[in-house]
Amino acid sequence: MEIVLVAIVGRNGVIGADGDQPWHFRCDLQHFKAITRGHPVIMGRRTFAAIGRPLPQRTNIILSRDPAFVAEGVEVAADAETALARAQAAAGGEQVMILGGGAVYRLFLPRAHRVELTEVDDAPPGDTTFPALGDDWRETARDEAEEDGYRLTFRTLTRRDG
Ligand SMILES: NC(=O)c1ccc[n+]([C@@H]2O[C@H](COP(=O)([O-])OP(=O)(O)OC[C@H]3O[C@@H](n4cnc5c(N)ncnc54)[C@H](OP(=O)(O)O)[C@@H]3O)[C@@H](O)[C@H]2O)c1
Repeated sequence: MEIVLVAIVGRNGVIGADGDQPWHFRCDLQHFKAITRGHPVIMGRRTFAAIGRPLPQRTNIILSRDPAFVAEGVEVAADAETALARAQAAAGGEQVMILGGGAVYRLFLPRAHRVELTEVDDAPPGDTTFPALGDDWRETARDEAEEDGYRLTFRTLTRRDG
């Protein structure tokens, strides 16, 4: 199963502030939908709270250590292994989309195969960051867009072999 991290990030690494994302761009939403459609998704309990509902037409797996946590229309997993096993068993499980937030990106980055990063030419204040990627990654696709006066770069990063 291919493990894919999907995130939108400022040039200062910020991905979140006060439980929400710093930006909401229409073009990024389209890009997100195109990448994630048809595949199971894994996200942290806080990110799920920010979205407020399951993403439609796919298996939503929420990571939480709270045995009492339940929510309609989602599966709950208490650790990464359980979450990945559920994703692999789900429809479209040849790929799994890791949707954050900061804690969950850090949890899955060491075993990720691909990162779909939308970089925003902005450095907003925030309390949550994307982990440093290091030298293991090479860019395999790149596209650019502009919305509301912000420059966005859509980058596909693939882990180098070996
Ligand atoms: N820019 C982006 O692309 C993007 C994407 C997603 C989210 N965000 C932002 O990121 C922020 C949220 O990130 P966050 O780091 O605070 O929270 P998070 O990663 O969304 O969720 C953290 C929660 O996930 C559960 N969890 C984490 N690691 C676990 C593990 N190893 N095993 C079991 N459960 C685990 C815990 O839930 P319990 O407390 O229930 O145990 C933990 O409190 C928000 O501001 C959000 O808007 C940004």
